[in-house]
Amino acid sequence: MFTRRKFLKSTAISTLSLSAATLLPNMASFADNPQIHKNRLKIPPLNEGKIENNVRIFNLEMQNGITEFYQGIKTPTSGINGSYLAPTLKMINGEQVRLNVKNSIGETTTLHWHGFHLPAKYDGGPHQPIKNGEIWSPQFTIMQKAASFWYHPHLMGKTAEHVWHGLAGMIIVEDKESMALSLPNEYGVDDVPIVLQDRRFLSNGAITYTPTRHDIMMGMVGDVPLTNGTIEPYFVAKRQYLRLRILNGANASIYQLSFSDKRKFWQIATDGSMLEEPLETDEILLSPGERAQIVVDVSGNKNFMLQSKPYLASMMGGGGMMGSGMGGSMMGGSGNSDEYGVQFNFLEIIPAENLAKSPPLPKKLTKIDWLDSKEADKERKFLMSMKMGPAMMLGMGNTHTINGKSMDMKRIDEVIKLNSTEIWEISNDSMLPHPFHIHDVQFQILSRNGQKPSPSERGLKDTVLVHPGEKVRFIAKFKDYADDKYPYMYHCHILEHEDAGMMGQFLVVDS
Ligand code: C2O
Ligand code: CU
Ligand code: CU
Repeated sequence: MFTRRKFLKSTAISTLSLSAATLLPNMASFADNPQIHKNRLKIPPLNEGKIENNVRIFNLEMQNGITEFYQGIKTPTSGINGSYLAPTLKMINGEQVRLNVKNSIGETTTLHWHGFHLPAKYDGGPHQPIKNGEIWSPQFTIMQKAASFWYHPHLMGKTAEHVWHGLAGMIIVEDKESMALSLPNEYGVDDVPIVLQDRRFLSNGAITYTPTRHDIMMGMVGDVPLTNGTIEPYFVAKRQYLRLRILNGANASIYQLSFSDKRKFWQIATDGSMLEEPLETDEILLSPGERAQIVVDVSGNKNFMLQSKPYLASMMGGGGMMGSGMGGSMMGGSGNSDEYGVQFNFLEIIPAENLAKSPPLPKKLTKIDWLDSKEADKERKFLMSMKMGPAMMLGMGNTHTINGKSMDMKRIDEVIKLNSTEIWEISNDSMLPHPFHIHDVQFQILSRNGQKPSPSERGLKDTVLVHPGEKVRFIAKFKDYADDKYPYMYHCHILEHEDAGMMGQFLVVDS
């Protein structure tokens, strides 16, 4: 029998054996607190564009290049205005932006503004291909609350490969409210973008994207963690409070993040907004596509590590269909939970000797206009499924579906009336967790398995992780932009799953 547990086990073991050699000695020597990581964290350049006639204009070129992840080893990669990853773009709510995107990667791709509310024809999804050598120039108004977003290619069937090679960057949006808050905000000093990924390196240093069928099923997981494209990075913190804008930019890995010394921190933002108030916590779960901002007090004269660790998720809401036997779970979890996530050391943080004191955090960060489920005009249900076993192994197609359908660019799956408020219920009857992402809107989670969402999800979201057997309900309003020709996407943000068809399309129409 082809069970989920067997899959997870084989993947976990291969991941462990690959990383054990580098991780375990690190952990052992960490108690004495010598510096472990040797590479200074790369900070993507900040690009604020330039304003012409009240439009903030960015010039972006998607290109191929060579990156030295390991000293002296040349890895062919792709990037935007550079060889790997992309500049951090900064925009302000309410202003007009134009992004001149030149494609020089030698093949067709797209560039999508993940998390943005914008006209469908400027979304940069599968329907806005940019041929090699061409320039695409979407222009739109920023209509977001302050948060961190990101941008990446979204060509049908090619998203995973293009992102894996390095095409992705962060976008910081500020608004009047956020600019008035006393939060760490000096880019690269106490306000730092943290793009988390993992990659597999071949012996010649290449990160060629060659997923096996198993990788397509599980998602492509690497054994080398990268932070802003840096291997084994450290960062010297000069001020007491360090704000990290974290993006899970991995193709498939789920990161359960915490600090090696278990120190507490505050979560201050979700995908698409600040939290209403800082949330004190000691861990945060980010699946591919999700973002969070945290503030950590680095005082204590000791280095510490931002790490991800495997975690147990129990199958709530009667997820017994997986038939977990007693004690069957790896790592000795209870019979009804399974282990996900990977073990990585992402970033060593070194507090400077003369740490500058930071002002206290504000008590209130924002006010969210909560939508009332009683005002919903419509409810829709989405079921994420995977055909496992022979169908998958033989590559029989249609293995990754939403509501039984595999993505078809010529098929519109849902039609939504402009200005309507909808509740979407997302469930997952497969053996793997899937991060569900929707374009155009920021949603509010109403419930997870009938329970209130955790405080860490009480902000605006565009991506939500749905574990096997779970049911997540969210509410969103579809406003401002209608188009009866160009659709928006919704999909699993495990990029291998998206490319394999776990995606659908919706129109927002005015009538
Ligand atoms: Cu981050 Cu449809 O994408
Ligand atoms: Cu998106
Ligand atoms: Cu998925």
